[in-house]
Amino acid sequence: MAIEKHLNLLPVSNGLFNIPRLGLDDDVNNILKTNIRDHQLRVSKLSAILAIEAGYTQKRVEEIRYAATIHDIGKLSMQEQTETNESFDNYQQRTIQMHTVIGAQMLLSILINQSMQKIAYDVILHHHQRWDGSGYPNLVSNGKMVYPLSTDPSFYEIFSPVKGKLIPTEALLVGMADRYDALRSKRPYKPELSHLEAYDTMNLDNCTNKTGEQYYGPELWHLFTRKHKILEVAYIEINKKLKNRS
Ligand SMILES: [Fe+2]
Ligand SMILES: [Fe+2]
Repeated sequence: MAIEKHLNLLPVSNGLFNIPRLGLDDDVNNILKTNIRDHQLRVSKLSAILAIEAGYTQKRVEEIRYAATIHDIGKLSMQEQTETNESFDNYQQRTIQMHTVIGAQMLLSILINQSMQKIAYDVILHHHQRWDGSGYPNLVSNGKMVYPLSTDPSFYEIFSPVKGKLIPTEALLVGMADRYDALRSKRPYKPELSHLEAYDTMNLDNCTNKTGEQYYGPELWHLFTRKHKILEVAYIEINKKLKNRS
């Protein structure tokens, strides 16, 4: 996807984007002190581990690590409520899903090198898409990816899901680390899962009846099944460090 085209199409300051605000607290520092910060750090380390194991170059591993650190940057416009509540109505859920589009838009205002920006853009926009097309946002029209021109969820209703090889592999990889971390972590609305429970859920999600291969594709899922023990150890170590720090 040509990032330059986005830069031309989506200037941050032109008011094209009406960023939804769902919460009350406007203090970004407060948000960063919550579990969002720890989640970002863990997902970045877990993603880097997976990227190394997948055989990426050192440069690409660094790019993926950086991208994973800011994969949910779009949530900064949505406040802590996105992390503390799961009983949203359908419109609110679809609005929260726009954190992918908002994050991609925010990224365009950050000056980083082009290769880094491309990976970060792909990861932020596509990290909730799934190999079988069950993720979001929908961005395909006539077999081609379209540009995320709006943060209004209804804009995406006419498009088809992005699936298979159309999803950047780096985004699927970070999405996999993201989900593992979300399952392992305690949230106000759910308990933490053990490594084995998280593995089983990723292998077969009882709510959706989807397998890990359906979500992440055969190659990445195979990588996960071979390397999941490394993630287990890393998750525990990172969490220990984060607890000592806070
Ligand atoms: Fe996300
Ligand atoms: Fe996340």
